[in-house]
Amino acid sequence: MEKQKIGDRLDRVDGRAKVTGTAAYAADHKVQNVVYGFLVGSTIAKGRIKSINTKNAERASGVIAVITHFNAPELPGYRTGKDPSKPPTAGTPLRFFSTNEIFYYDQAVALVVASSYEEVLHAAKLVKVQYEKEAHQTNLAENLGNAKTPTGPRFEDYNRGEKDAYKNAPFKLEQEYFHPIEVHNPIEPAAIIAFWEGDDKVTVYTKTQGVQATQQSISDAFKIPLENIAVHAQHIGGAFGMGLRTWPYEIAAIMAAKKVGRPLKLVLHREQMFTNVGYRPKTLQKIGLGATADGKLIGLTHEATANTSPYEEFTEATVNASRFLYSCANVTTRYKLVPLNVCTPIWMRGPGEATGCFALESAIDELAYALNVDPIEFRVRNHSDKDEEKDLPWSSKYLKECYEMGAESIGWSERKLQSRSLKDGDWFIGYGMGTGAFGAFRRPCSVKAILKPDGNLVLQCSVNDMGPGTATMMTAIASESMGIAPENITIEMGSTGLPPGPMQGGSAVTSTVGSGVHDVCNALKDKIAELAAKNNTVFSNNQTRITANDLAFSANEISLKKDGAAKLSYDELLKRNTLQSLEVTKESKGPEQPYSSYSFSVHFVKLRVHMSTGKVKIDHVVSCADAGTIISLKTSESQMIGGAVGGIGMALMEDLFIDDRFGRPINNNLADYHVPVNADIPRVDVRFVNKKDPYTNPMGSKGLGEIALVGVAPAIANAVFNAIGKRIRSLPITADKIIEA
Ligand code: MOS
Repeated sequence: MEKQKIGDRLDRVDGRAKVTGTAAYAADHKVQNVVYGFLVGSTIAKGRIKSINTKNAERASGVIAVITHFNAPELPGYRTGKDPSKPPTAGTPLRFFSTNEIFYYDQAVALVVASSYEEVLHAAKLVKVQYEKEAHQTNLAENLGNAKTPTGPRFEDYNRGEKDAYKNAPFKLEQEYFHPIEVHNPIEPAAIIAFWEGDDKVTVYTKTQGVQATQQSISDAFKIPLENIAVHAQHIGGAFGMGLRTWPYEIAAIMAAKKVGRPLKLVLHREQMFTNVGYRPKTLQKIGLGATADGKLIGLTHEATANTSPYEEFTEATVNASRFLYSCANVTTRYKLVPLNVCTPIWMRGPGEATGCFALESAIDELAYALNVDPIEFRVRNHSDKDEEKDLPWSSKYLKECYEMGAESIGWSERKLQSRSLKDGDWFIGYGMGTGAFGAFRRPCSVKAILKPDGNLVLQCSVNDMGPGTATMMTAIASESMGIAPENITIEMGSTGLPPGPMQGGSAVTSTVGSGVHDVCNALKDKIAELAAKNNTVFSNNQTRITANDLAFSANEISLKKDGAAKLSYDELLKRNTLQSLEVTKESKGPEQPYSSYSFSVHFVKLRVHMSTGKVKIDHVVSCADAGTIISLKTSESQMIGGAVGGIGMALMEDLFIDDRFGRPINNNLADYHVPVNADIPRVDVRFVNKKDPYTNPMGSKGLGEIALVGVAPAIANAVFNAIGKRIRSLPITADKIIEA
């Protein structure tokens, strides 16, 4: 293959390994002498364990241990992360088997260990637990009286200008929006293999989006030095945020492996994926909007109350987009949490922004209708030319371009302002759109480059790839920089011990690690130039120092730009310097910039609604993004399509329904918890502005992962309104809500 340029359609470099099954996920690793663990969950949602009868389980075939709070070894510590006062790990993470207290349904009360998976599944059913039940709380609406403002810099009440100014505006709107719990359930379930060498050295293969963060959590729990802990997670079968922390099951498995003195594998059962590894919290939101008669926003109030667990504060930026997305002199936001008897929530794609923008972008649409203004026109009238929250200029913002390209692609001109104007047989046709935004971050990162004599290049970084195409993006940047074909570039990632990279999350990995690759390739080129000049007369010049800028870099050699005939192979270069390979490690960090950086998206939807059955069928989605320079076009498009699919699930299907009488979900399986299938997904067109941001990083890229989803759900809700004239403010938009009068 030719070398790749930034923006080419490079195939996913790990695609073949993934589809042929050679890519090893956490539970796939072959470890000698492994034993199997299985968690037994509480059948009550709050109370205490009175007694546990483990006798029958212990006597069952193949059983090695049954660990409960009666016999679990004490762990020296637990707190997660370097600064435990910081969200989302505020409070004390739950440690299984450290207490007889039950905080939520399916909280682990025993960990059974046996020689085979079949034996452990059988034995787990034999554990009998007696509880002392207490009244649990799982209903958000009934517990709003317990709502508290969480700690943390962007979570306190916010005011710009006059407080709740919308109330005094000539045109105003006040509405409530709700969305239920959504669970992650990626194809690869939560899983870990742990094995100890001696008392203070442990290796784990686990499902995490950050091997260094997991390493830190293990160190905190077991009080062993970081360098004694190896964490591996090269391939991840989807995560979307659930791997952004260390979960109690992981610490429990590591503890159990130590106790039984054997490598231990623990894979959560699909049902446990609904109860034990976080979710998008349910949230009640109130939006107040005030505008002048000519459609200028003069007051915006956004309040959100979400659930957390009884033992931790989980916070997200639900109300934050309302502070900067539109130009408005008077903005008030309030954010509160209610502890309920459920496991701690966790980030889920577009955490906060996706749900906050569902409320905000629905309300903006409602107000546009009330003012009889086209919703795009209304947004353009209220476009924010700078970040009014931070009072900073944008590093780049091409939101208006997104509106234009999306409107054209969806056929917005066919849309009627009046609902129920477009019909196709029994179906009403509607068009809707919604805006999304997410911070464009760049974090510190370290990448090592190893150049071999034959022109093969290895790049190492501890970051992993949960699916967005991180390895592919790294390959594209290195290929363009070094002139080396993608098949001659190897990415080594997802392990502690490699140069430290960021967590795989927050839409920041391409900006962060892409910059790391960019910088290390430049450092490698400088090193090549230096060595070439040192011992080769063609490449040295006493008057002017030869630098990397004077050289052309290609597959396995360099040449002088001004004299293409003067060539030097990497093989020769390394030989002359008696080197086996050339290794350069570079730490990268972006300079502080006096700009506010966000990625923006606009999603357009055309759909049809069948009034007598309540069926919503999406005909077409157009997702437009201002994400700076697009580095890897094919994986970026896939990222956007995946976000649209997630947004369709959020808008029309997903709802973890808790029966409050028992404090437990009734649809904790993939038959009853609905997600979109192929037949639910229409044509999704992706359009990128693809203009470089001058400030974010050397490539000029911004993140994509979250904005792929943020804005999709309101686009669908708005299209449903446009079709049938009925505003549905509670997700998911199911048939019952459409049919009811
Ligand atoms: Mo994402 S919610 O940063 O995995």
